[in-house]
Amino acid sequence: ASAFVPQQPLTPRSPATSLAAVGVERNPNFAKLIGGYLFPEIGRRRTQYLEENPEMKDRVISLGIGDTTQPIPEYILSGLVGGASKLGTKEGYSGYGNEAGMLDLREKIADKLYKGIIAAEEVFVSDGAKCDIMRLQQMFGAKVISAVQDPSYPVYVDTSVMMGQTGEIDSETNQYKNIVYMPCTSENGFFPDYASMPRADIVYLCSPNNPTGAAATKEQLVEMVKLCKERGSILVFDAAYAPFIRSKDVPKSIFEIEGARDVAIEVNSFSKYAGFTGVRLGWTVIPNNLKFADGTPVRNDFNRVMSTAFNGASNIVQAGGLACLDDDGLKEIDTLIDYYLGNAKILRETMESIGYDVYGGIDAPYVFVKLPESMGGSWDAFQTILEKTQVVTIPGAGFGPGGEGYLRLSAFAPRDSVIEACERLKKALV
Ligand code: MLT
Repeated sequence: ASAFVPQQPLTPRSPATSLAAVGVERNPNFAKLIGGYLFPEIGRRRTQYLEENPEMKDRVISLGIGDTTQPIPEYILSGLVGGASKLGTKEGYSGYGNEAGMLDLREKIADKLYKGIIAAEEVFVSDGAKCDIMRLQQMFGAKVISAVQDPSYPVYVDTSVMMGQTGEIDSETNQYKNIVYMPCTSENGFFPDYASMPRADIVYLCSPNNPTGAAATKEQLVEMVKLCKERGSILVFDAAYAPFIRSKDVPKSIFEIEGARDVAIEVNSFSKYAGFTGVRLGWTVIPNNLKFADGTPVRNDFNRVMSTAFNGASNIVQAGGLACLDDDGLKEIDTLIDYYLGNAKILRETMESIGYDVYGGIDAPYVFVKLPESMGGSWDAFQTILEKTQVVTIPGAGFGPGGEGYLRLSAFAPRDSVIEACERLKKALV
């Protein structure tokens, strides 16, 4: 998915003529990127709308970026506070830590979240899944071919472009050359048919999916692992929304699938688990079995990236992570997720009651709504809804050409805002 964001002219802070250029060539890969990153562009449009309509300031409700809004619960917070307080004591103070994370946190992740399917040494603790995706790209280098779901979280495509893996964007298809776009549509249950696509070195798969909200079944994942094995591809599995899975028998980790240890990497995050979007804590699992073509363990190279270009996640934040995984913390996480899933249900039911085809929102915090043709393109629909209802959404096209014709609604808003947004949408769209 080329994250299609219309090109916006940058407003120089001082007249362009006064800016002297240095003698450094611009990295040509950055010139290939169209427009800005999706979420800042949404923010820019919201700001522009409010500049033109300042009286609407207090009416804006965001169902846009998937940013958590509920406060961090008490027990987990006490972990963060405890981590900070320790730094003020002689005995508790610590400086640089292990670049791959505190051993007790790695052990606890392996034990509590993976029930021992993976070992502590295979867990790399970090400042988040998005940052780890870029680090994985740095490790893979410029020569690999990546495959992405279309639509997909824009980071996979944009980082592939930055790394020089792709050609220019094709203005007809809005797809970058040298990326394999795997269509994910309502017809295929938003799960890609990798077998029918050209082989890729790296396959990015997100489940529960951002933006479609589809959670892959065990059968689908078994097939994907089998295909990656046959084709010699590495599967990068993004499980950032795993705790939203409430349906029985839907895998929360790719490592629940037999054989995944030979082909898969999993990226994950505390952001949506515990309201850590601003706190920053995530992890990546690289099994010892996973080896590059020359036999080098992938884990070794990722360890080299982490130890060279990262100094480890904040020790305060890792103390918060430890608290998340205590029984009290896990209970608090469940309550938080129930709250957001309650919002997703309200959004789903509202959009269905208006008469739209609605996907996701059951095992995921995102609701993906099929737009009627009469609303025009998804950027037009985004703008119309913003102007008519002051509700911020995300146009499907922002997640790649396959997202055109859809709108994504995020359930990460306070309950009363979700209810109010639904009232307004009902009035405006019926
Ligand atoms: C989203 O809205 O898709 C996510 O919040 C973005 C992210 O987690 O980086």
